[in-house]
Amino acid sequence: MPDILTLALAKGRLAEKTFDLLENMGIDCQEPRNPGRQLVLWDRKMQIRFILVKPSDVPTYVDHGVADLGVVGKDTLMEAGRPLYEVLDLGFGKCRLCIAGYPEGNRERSGNSVSHATFRVATKYPNIAASYYGEMGRTIEIIELHGSVELGPVIGLSDVILDIVESGSTLRANGLEVMEEVCPVSARLVCNRVSLKTKRERVQWLIDGLSAQLEQ
Ligand code: PRP
Repeated sequence: MPDILTLALAKGRLAEKTFDLLENMGIDCQEPRNPGRQLVLWDRKMQIRFILVKPSDVPTYVDHGVADLGVVGKDTLMEAGRPLYEVLDLGFGKCRLCIAGYPEGNRERSGNSVSHATFRVATKYPNIAASYYGEMGRTIEIIELHGSVELGPVIGLSDVILDIVESGSTLRANGLEVMEEVCPVSARLVCNRVSLKTKRERVQWLIDGLSAQLEQ
C-alpha cells in the first residue's frame, strides 16, 4: 500500500478547479465533489484523502502536517505567513490585492466625510496591511472585518480598504476605485516541509502531474 496523501483544499471555486486537474491525472474526485456533510473524502484506490476547509484554514492544516499538500489563494498564504513550500502557481483564481477608496473629492459627496486622527484601513488581511504600510513607514489603524469590506469607506468606518479585486464590480457598485495595487493573486499548491522528505515520491508525483496539466 502506498502512503496516504492528504490534500487540504479551499472550499468552493478553487477546489472545483483543482478537481478538474486531478481528474485529468486519473484521480477519482467523485467523493470530494459531492461531500454532503462528510468532512474527509477519499479516492481509496489511489490512497488520496481530501479535506475541504475554509481558505484561511488550509495553511494551518498543511503547516501542522496533517495535510501533506494544500491549494489556496496567494492572499490567504501571505496573510497566514506560515513556513510552507509554495510549489506551484496553479494559474486560476486570479485577482489582485488592492488598496481602494473613494476617488479624490468623492468622500464628501458620499455623505460620510468622517475624518479620523489616524489613516484607517479596513481589511480581512490585517497582517498584509501591517507589512504593506509598515514598509512605507506609514502609521495606520487597521480595522479587521470578515466580509463586505467595501462598506468600510462607504459607511465612514475607514479611509480605504485593502481587499481582493476580481472583476471590480463590487468597487464600482459602491463608488470606490483602486488606488494602489499591492500584488497579483492566484491559487497556489503548497506543501508541508516534512512531507516533502518523508513522502517524497508521492508528493513529487502529484506536483509533476499537476505541473504537466498546467503545461497542456
Ligand atoms: C470578495 C472581495 C470583494 C469581492 C471582489 O468578496 O472581498 O468584496 O469579492 O470581487 P469583484 O471585484 O469581482 O466584485 P467575497 O465575494 O468573497 O465576499 P465577502 O465580501 O463576504 O468576503
